[in-house]
Amino acid sequence: MALCITRVVIFSLLLTSAIFFTANSHTFSRSLLPEELGLKKEKLSHLHFYFHDILSGRSPTAVPVAEAKMTNTSATAFGLVVMIDDPLTEGPVLSSKIVGRAQGLYTSASLNDVGLLMVQNYVFNEGKYNGSTLSVLGRNAVFSDVREMPIVGGSGLFRFARGYAQARTHSIDLRTGDAVVEYNVYVFHY
Ligand SMILES: *[C@@H]1O[C@H](CO)[C@@H](O)[C@H](O)[C@H]1NC(C)=O
Ligand SMILES: *[C@@H]1O[C@H](CO)[C@@H](O)[C@H](O)[C@H]1NC(C)=O
Repeated sequence: MALCITRVVIFSLLLTSAIFFTANSHTFSRSLLPEELGLKKEKLSHLHFYFHDILSGRSPTAVPVAEAKMTNTSATAFGLVVMIDDPLTEGPVLSSKIVGRAQGLYTSASLNDVGLLMVQNYVFNEGKYNGSTLSVLGRNAVFSDVREMPIVGGSGLFRFARGYAQARTHSIDLRTGDAVVEYNVYVFHY
């Protein structure tokens, strides 16, 4: 009799845990410890590179894809949308080592001064960062000496990234619009 009760208890325990397990595996949200994702100590990294925005020539890396009716009469080119896949290099010359690319777009988003909305992913190919990305979403007042844009996230080695990028124009060809921009990026990540 006692053995029988024990069996029933064990069986019902197994059943409840099975039900619990099933329910749990379909649970929409749960909390977990950072270690369960292999996250250790948060780090702060500084990345330095040059961004080449090439509009002219036979292989441009920045191409206008859309504009509004009023864009060509706007002093700030309001409404212009430019798609980019701009090389990021270690030094200021294009022939220096490529460490990644800035892919995405910038649009002229300010009626009264030149202010771009930057929506881009930096995808890196350098060493341990190969394949990791950082996402930028911010305002770029291109004629200011230093422009600051938020880094809103990342992937790979940059999971959970947050920080900021500071851009300084290194050189610009006013005839073609081609520009080399120096970037300093500071990010917290794991
Ligand atoms: C602006 O572009 C429109 C077409 O979208 C064209 O009809 C117009 O002539 C252009 N204006 C100027 C000043 O280039
Ligand atoms: C980066 O990774 C890709 C594959 O994901 C590989 O083809 C490429 O050679 C790697 N580049 C470097 C610089 O390690």
